[in-house]
Amino acid sequence: MSKKKVVLAYSGGLDTSVIIRWLMDRGYEVICYMGDVGQGSDTESARERAMRIGASKCIVGDLKREFVKEYAFRALKAGALYQGKYNLATALSRPIIADAMVREAVRQKASALAHGCTGKGNDQVRFEVTFHVKAPGIKVIAPVREWELTTRESEIDYAISNKIPVEQTREKLYSIDKNLWGISVEGGDLEDPWKEPGEDTYISVKPARKTPDVPKNVTLKFSGGIPVALDGKKYRPVELIEKLNALGGKHGVGRVDMIEDRLVGIKSREIYEAPASAILYAAHTALEEMVLDRATREYKALLAQRYSELVYNGLWFTPLRESIDAFVDSTQKSVSGEVRLKLYKGSVSVSGRKSARSRYKLALATYGEGDVFDQSLAKGFIDLWAMPYR
Ligand code: ARG
Repeated sequence: MSKKKVVLAYSGGLDTSVIIRWLMDRGYEVICYMGDVGQGSDTESARERAMRIGASKCIVGDLKREFVKEYAFRALKAGALYQGKYNLATALSRPIIADAMVREAVRQKASALAHGCTGKGNDQVRFEVTFHVKAPGIKVIAPVREWELTTRESEIDYAISNKIPVEQTREKLYSIDKNLWGISVEGGDLEDPWKEPGEDTYISVKPARKTPDVPKNVTLKFSGGIPVALDGKKYRPVELIEKLNALGGKHGVGRVDMIEDRLVGIKSREIYEAPASAILYAAHTALEEMVLDRATREYKALLAQRYSELVYNGLWFTPLRESIDAFVDSTQKSVSGEVRLKLYKGSVSVSGRKSARSRYKLALATYGEGDVFDQSLAKGFIDLWAMPYR
């Protein structure tokens, strides 16, 4: 009889490396899957490590383009920020990776899916909900939740005794998750909410005091809610994000330090870095202010909050998320135009905007020449407005 096969969400780190061996010990043939969402780590050496430990295959899937277009840009168009601050970079990456794993499991005729998430976080939920939706009935294994290697020391001992290569660098201080849309940093010193994050928590963003003294102006062009050009030059989505991450990071833009509420009920202190996203959200919001009517803006903001909760709580592949996206897409038809922004010492500010779909009418707004607003109508309007309360 052929061995039972499992597809493992593999990162190349210690946990998922140990998991390969742990699953092998339990009779599995282990197929590693690495979803490349722009984490920028060395996938080739991670692949080699997986094979050396004993994986039968290690597949690297390039998900970058799909991740930006079908996940990150949807969140941007919706204006989703979890608890008003977090752009959901990690949360958005889980469903796309999990979905790709399911497709791989079908191709490889695997009977199980595994991941390296702990039992305290959100990521386990995001992976497993996607597994359940996309491959109902498949076996799900979460070794870190059930194994006996409960401390880092015991895990390292296990690794050494099983000849699993452990990176000889100093113990990793933080738990870091990276992709094109942002970086999440947690653990270590950050667990003390009173403690100021050290400079070693700055991964892609420069601390303000190390940024240029001259502000940088950039102009972004949007078409249908999607950014398409920077300073007059067209970019493909992935390249645009890379470019803005570098620019924003250099000027200290896009850091968030927050305490958030995890789905499982724990509060946790998190640092996020998302320079491109911070710039794009500022620009996109500024453009919507100009082109959307008031009622749509207000209603859309309510949905944005709900959308952020769906994404955060692992409910990407659900009817409500898809329906909100349909609504959002319908609002985005008019979100075309240009926004000029200033990046300076950790801040991004909007300094100009224009659009052929603008609802800003100078002739109505002006206090100068050419005013067409009939002020005599205001009295009757206010009388009726107040009537019910009088
Ligand atoms: N708290 C964030 C979230 O739930 C980030 C989790 C990041 N994971 C990590 N290994 N650092 O989306």
